[in-house]
Parts: sequence; C-alpha cells; structure tokens
Amino acid sequence: MSIEYIDSQKLFHLKTPSSSYFIRLEKGKHPVHLGWHGAIKNWGGSNDIQCFDRAFSPNPRTEERSFSLDNIPLEYSAWGRTDLRTPSLQVEGADGSMSLDLEYREHSILPGKPLLDGLPSVYLEDDSEADTLVLTLEDPLTGLLCDLSYTVFAERDVITRSVRLRNGGKEELTVKRIMSLSLDLEDSDYTLVQLSGAHNRERRIHRRPLASGMQSVESRRGTSSHQQNPFIALMKGDAGEDQGIVYGFSLVYSGNFLAAVDVDQFDSPRVIMGINPFDFAWRLEPGSEFQTPEAVMVRSGKGLGAMSRTYHDLYRSRLCRGAYRDRERPVLINNWEATYFDFDSNTILNLADEASRLGIELFVLDDGWFGERDNDLTSLGDWFPHKKKLPGGIRSLAEGILEKGMSFGIWVEPEMISEKSRLYEAHPDWCIRVKRRNLSTGRSQLVLDYSRRDVRDYIVGILSDILRDNPVSYVKWDMNRHLTEVGSALLPAERQRETSHRFVLGVYDVLERITSAFPEVLFESCSGGGGRFDPGMLYYMPQTWTSDNTDAISRLSIQAGTSLVYPPLTMGAHVSAVPNHQTGRTVSLKTRGAVAMGANFGYELNLLNLSADEKDQIKEQVAEYKKRRHLILDGSHYRLIEPWKQTDRYAWMTVSPDRREALAVFVSVHTESNHPYGSLKLKGLDRDMSYSINGEGSYGGDELMESGIRLPYPLFEADAHEFHIRAL
Ligand code: DGJ
Repeated sequence: MSIEYIDSQKLFHLKTPSSSYFIRLEKGKHPVHLGWHGAIKNWGGSNDIQCFDRAFSPNPRTEERSFSLDNIPLEYSAWGRTDLRTPSLQVEGADGSMSLDLEYREHSILPGKPLLDGLPSVYLEDDSEADTLVLTLEDPLTGLLCDLSYTVFAERDVITRSVRLRNGGKEELTVKRIMSLSLDLEDSDYTLVQLSGAHNRERRIHRRPLASGMQSVESRRGTSSHQQNPFIALMKGDAGEDQGIVYGFSLVYSGNFLAAVDVDQFDSPRVIMGINPFDFAWRLEPGSEFQTPEAVMVRSGKGLGAMSRTYHDLYRSRLCRGAYRDRERPVLINNWEATYFDFDSNTILNLADEASRLGIELFVLDDGWFGERDNDLTSLGDWFPHKKKLPGGIRSLAEGILEKGMSFGIWVEPEMISEKSRLYEAHPDWCIRVKRRNLSTGRSQLVLDYSRRDVRDYIVGILSDILRDNPVSYVKWDMNRHLTEVGSALLPAERQRETSHRFVLGVYDVLERITSAFPEVLFESCSGGGGRFDPGMLYYMPQTWTSDNTDAISRLSIQAGTSLVYPPLTMGAHVSAVPNHQTGRTVSLKTRGAVAMGANFGYELNLLNLSADEKDQIKEQVAEYKKRRHLILDGSHYRLIEPWKQTDRYAWMTVSPDRREALAVFVSVHTESNHPYGSLKLKGLDRDMSYSINGEGSYGGDELMESGIRLPYPLFEADAHEFHIRAL
C-alpha cells in the first residue's frame, strides 16, 4: 500500500518510490502537513511543528493561546476562522457570512483511483498502480462536507489531489473559492518557475525567487490561455536541471485557473492551485455536490529534468487516451500556410499529389472548407461543405486523397459561431452573452454557449455526421478567441458566475462524446496554436498544435518551455516556408526539419513552390522521421542545455527505453566568428554500453555523459547538428 495510517500517531504516510508525504490530525481534527520529503521509513517527529503564542495569530475558542491555525502548516484551509493566510475554500452561507470550520470527520483508504465525474483526470490501468486517501472534513454549523482526495502512485513520484464538496446541511451555500490543492512548505528558499507568453510565443520559461507575499499566474480568459499555463514549479535552493529538489504542480483543467504561492510572515510558502476564484461562484443547494479539477503534484530529488520526465511518462500513458496513445503518429501536411482560405479541391489534390510522392501520410484540410468561408468573417457553425470550393463535398475530396495513398484529416472550430452564419440566424441566443449588453467579437466570431445541453447536442450531432459519413482519420479542433460578456441565457441571475466553469464542463462533455464515438480518429487540439495546451485537453486529444509560430528558431524556446510538463509526443511541429510567415526569418530546411522532428512531425507549406532539390531533402526528412519516430512515442526526453540559462544554444536528446538508441540535437541560434570550442554532455545513456555516433566510432556511455561530445567547429547561425547514437 502506498498509504499507511498510523492510528497511535494520527498520522498518514503517503509513500511514492522516493518520497514521503505526511499528514497528521492535530488535536484529532485539523489535518496538518508535516512535509513532503525524500523517502523516510517512519515519522519520529525529529522536525515536528511548533506552536507558540504568536502576536496577531488568533486562537480558536476552545484552544490555548499557543494554538492558532494561522501559523501551522495545513492541508487545506477554510476562510473565516483563525487562519488568516490565503485560503483554499471560501463559502458563503445563507446568512451572507463567509466563515467555515473544517474539522476531520472520517477517512478511507482505497486501492486504485476513482475517475472524476465530468472532468478529465489521470487514470490507472490497474488498481495496483496507486492508492487513494479520502479525508472527509466537515463544517458542523452548515453541514458542509469536504472530501480531500490524494492518489499516491506506487511507481511514480506523483500525488494527485482534488476536492469534492457535498452540501449535507439544510441551507443554500455559495462556493466563492475552491482550490484543488494547497501545500504549505517550510521555508521560502525557492525559485518559482512558470510558463508564460502570448500568441506565437507561448510557454517561455520564467523564473523568479520567492518573495514575501503573493506571487501568482492565472487565466481570466475562459481558457487556460497562451498567456499563462496551468503549471508552476518550485526549485529549492540551487536546484537545477539535474540536481536538487523540485516540486511541480499541474492542473488538469482548460479554463480560468489560479496557481499561486503566498509567502507568509514566517517565510513559509503556501502553494494553491485550482479554478480561478475571480468571477467565479457556484450555488450549492442542499444535497448537491461540487467536484474540483485534479491537480498533479510531482516531487523530484533530481532536478527539473527528472520532474519533466515524471510528467511525460504519466501524461502520455495515464492521461492521454485512445487508439493513438500508443501509436506512432502520421507525418502530415496541412494546407493552412500553403493556401490560407484560397483553395479549391483541385488545389488540395495537387498538393496531396506532391505530398504523397514525398512519403507524407496524412493530408489535413484546414480552415475554409465549409459554409461560405472565404475569409474569417463568416460561416463558423455552418459545418457543411463550401459548394464552390468542394463541389463534390468532403467525401469526394477525401476519397481523392485516399486514392493517393494518404489518409484524410479535417479542421473544425466547434465552439464558435459567426454572426454571419445560418446557425446564428437560426439561434442568436446560442452564444455566450450578457443579455443587456451588446456582444464583443474576437476574430469576428462569438463563442457558443456550451453550458447548454441543446447547443452541445447540436454540435455533437453535426460533427458525428461528418465523421461518420466521410473517411476522416484526423481532426484538428481549433478555438480562436477568448470569452467576454460571460453569461448564459438559460441560467438564473444567481448562477451567472457559474458560466465559465459550465462552459469548460460542456466542452469536456462534447469531447467525451465525440472522441469515444470515434476512437480510431486522431484528434489534435489547437487554440490559435498553443492557447489551450493543457492536461485537460490532452485527456481527450493526445496532441496539441504547439504554436501558430512555425519559425524554427522561435519554436526552440516554445518547445523547450512546453517540455517542462508535456512530452514531445503531445506537441505538433511543422516545417513551414521561408521567409517564415510569422517572423520573416529564413532558416535552412535542415534546421527547420531538425526542430520539427523533435515532436509530431509535419509540413505546412506549398510543396508545389519548392525546387527539385528541396523536394529531395523533404523526401529524405520524411523517410528519416519514420525511422526515428518511435523515439518520440516512448523515448525519454532530456534537455542538454538549460533553456532558461542560455538562449543562443539549444540541445535536447531522446533516449529509447532500452537505452540502445538515442538522438541528440544541437542548434546554435547565434554565433560569433572565431568562437570558443564547445562540447555537449549527453544524458540518459547506459554507462556500461558502447555506442557509435552517426555510425562511427565506439564510445562508452560513461564517456559520452561525463566527458561529452565535441561540437563541430565552426558553428554557424541557426544551424542544427544531429547525433544519432546507437549501441554497438
Ligand atoms: C488557428 C490555427 O492555430 C491555425 O493553425 C489555423 O488552423 C487557423 N486557426 C485557421 O483559422
């Protein structure tokens, strides 16, 4: 069992392979946190918490003055009594007050891990993989019950957490804040790591030392967003890529979130993560329940790299689902940057002709194939073929592509509606809106109100028809604006602030229905590139279009940042034209290929405009990727240069599970003439094996990791070097 309860100490010991997490029921009723350490056999209390009469830390009525919830580490903190730090839970009672007492009532320890109702979560294939502790707390006054769930993995340094509220009383309650996790740490000698950015420059790694007070990242945009990712990490002291203690926190949620660290008056940080309380409220009637999203916590004693690999293994095998979870992904061509809206079936078939000659396996028809969609002003919601562009419909085009030996994929944006559309004419009330205000648009479009069952049923119906009636084996699911005037026509005034969360639940419901009805289809999520690259989406769609920025140099920081949490197998990466459409930069085809081959590989350019020489190169790249893509599927990813320290050089490496094969890629972004020599220390190899590099030599794994490999000289601007390492 990964969870032990020692009654004599009122102590829970949560054990992962290399860590111990302790919870004690203080005074039999307050779950306190005794630390998340490297593995410890038994808790003897050598570093136990202390209680002092501290000024301005209030005391519960029944307790002595030395006891205050304000200065002991708690597992979860309800607002309105003696803990005046950042709370995890705020609930308004029928009298309008916000004051809760959460006291231990009971607990259970179960083998396995229950799924969360209506929400994505990490899952198990066998109950032996993890155990779950449910600690039930109660507010005796209102009868509110709060189940804190902890799933502890036997073979991974992972603990997942979520919270369920049950209104077991008689009064109507309103939840104003409910975090999925709260973790109190001892001291503040940590660096906060976050993934922040914008459209076209998503998930850059930002680091800052913890300071007294609040530091946070959040989204208020209705989706997880390009701007902040629902992930933070804390790196202890001088922890780095390969050494030191790191805690990772990742939220399996695709809507408004908050991830924060509040360092209190005694320098103790409290980490919280969950649905953003900003503009959120949820009515909890007697007898009803509320379930939070799941937070996934990782503890690494070997730096950020090991934390990333723990997330990678977990997310690709126990978060992603469907037939493609364990399947190599097809090399694709997408027509977006090749044609934008300007195409018809002949253009597409000509492109497909060339693509199939080069060995590309999947053709993805992007935006513009439906309604009267000749630009982005119209037709979202009208999911029937554009008569002029596709006179024979989707089927005839798809069959034409299949005849060329490729499979066929299609773009949709099912959460959106254009004002200029038949759907809007028929159902103007189907969009998210505040009744007495006019609507704002984003990319000239509105957001469908997925909190409504009728809207969801319509979308599920129309998409199912497309997927059933046509040979479609891939879907790109896009989402190109954020939410404004957030409200729903069907909700009463007192429930309007539930709309954002209900929207996300609605998206999950539609995705669950569609993806389970078409298990053989590969789904790729997208939100103007990486605007919704989060674990919630990966539960339904096992890969995400990483960024609309296809420039190979921009992609280095985007893919490196993304790799902090998400495995390369979840990222889409394409070779596009030069000069690049987003940055104007010209980078060699070799470098564009090397960078895109670090993830799920494809092309997004007009092949018909290329020279014979370029086509030959592409043919070689495609053949090469097919040989190495098994490394993307199940290899372990190592960052060879810490991407937050150096941005003029990037290097990463993927090692096969048996360590007999690896691929290291080095890209010099900027270089000076007559620069110093350089070397690269490899990682993840078997110290006792001998390897060749690019088919030559014989080097011990120990040598390649300790001494490293010599980089070519001279290094040129934006040049990539690949080292294929094979056991001899
Ligand atoms: C945004 C996506 O990220 C692009 O790849 C493309 O599909 C466009 N939308 C189409 O409108």
